[in-house]
This record gives sequence, structure tokens and C-alpha cells, in this order.
Amino acid sequence: MALIEWNDAFSVGVADIDHEHKGLIELINQLYNGLEQGASAEDIADFFGEIYAHISAHFALEEKIMRERQYHEYEAHKREHERLLEEIRDMMDDYTDRVLIDEQELSQRLRDWFGEHFKTMDSRLHKALHV
Ligand SMILES: [Fe+2]
Ligand SMILES: [Fe+2]
Repeated sequence: MALIEWNDAFSVGVADIDHEHKGLIELINQLYNGLEQGASAEDIADFFGEIYAHISAHFALEEKIMRERQYHEYEAHKREHERLLEEIRDMMDDYTDRVLIDEQELSQRLRDWFGEHFKTMDSRLHKALHV
């Protein structure tokens, strides 16, 4: 079962960005399935690595667009991106250190994190700039 199902509330109204967000959701669902199915620690670490790389690239792209367009919410949005990346690093560390192997909690954190960011900051950004 997928952890996050795409729904229209996630759409920011820009096809390319929706496509990228769908890709990120797909990666998170893969991680979730891996956790559920008891994938090896190496595989989980790989999933995390891939998620982190894709998300960093996606955030960098959004930040570039915001800078170019002198978007008024740039600072706050960028701070939120940094916080989210830090949270993923924390999740990776927790997992590696075996501090937190509670897959329910891990999954919940990932889901809340994404759903909220798409629906609020990203939605405002893309509606304001139409990019
Ligand atoms: Fe985004
Ligand atoms: Fe964003």
C-alpha cells in the first residue's frame, strides 16, 4: 500500500512541478514499502540517499526560481526547505543509529512533512509565480 496517495490538494497548478512532486512521493512510497517489507539496512539507506538527493535538487530548483523572480516569501520558504532537509538527515541518522526503527512514526513524519509543504508553501509559490 502506498504511504502517500497523490490527490488534487497537492497540485500546485504547474504541470512540471506536479510531476516532480509526484516523483518525490513515489520515492517516499518505495522507502515506506521497503520498511514494511523488512528490506535490508543497506537498501533502506539507499532509499534515504536517493530521496535526499532528489529533494535537495528539487529545492535548489525552487530556490533558483524564487531568487530569479524576487519572490517575497523566499527567505521563509528557503528556511523551511532547510528545516525539512535537516529532518530527513535526522531520520537517516536515527535509522542508522537504530534509535528509531519505528516505521509507523518514520512514515508519519515523512507524510506530514511532504503533504504540508506541498499544500502550503509550494502552492503559494507556484500560484504566485506561475512557474
Ligand atoms: Fe516543491
Ligand atoms: Fe518548496
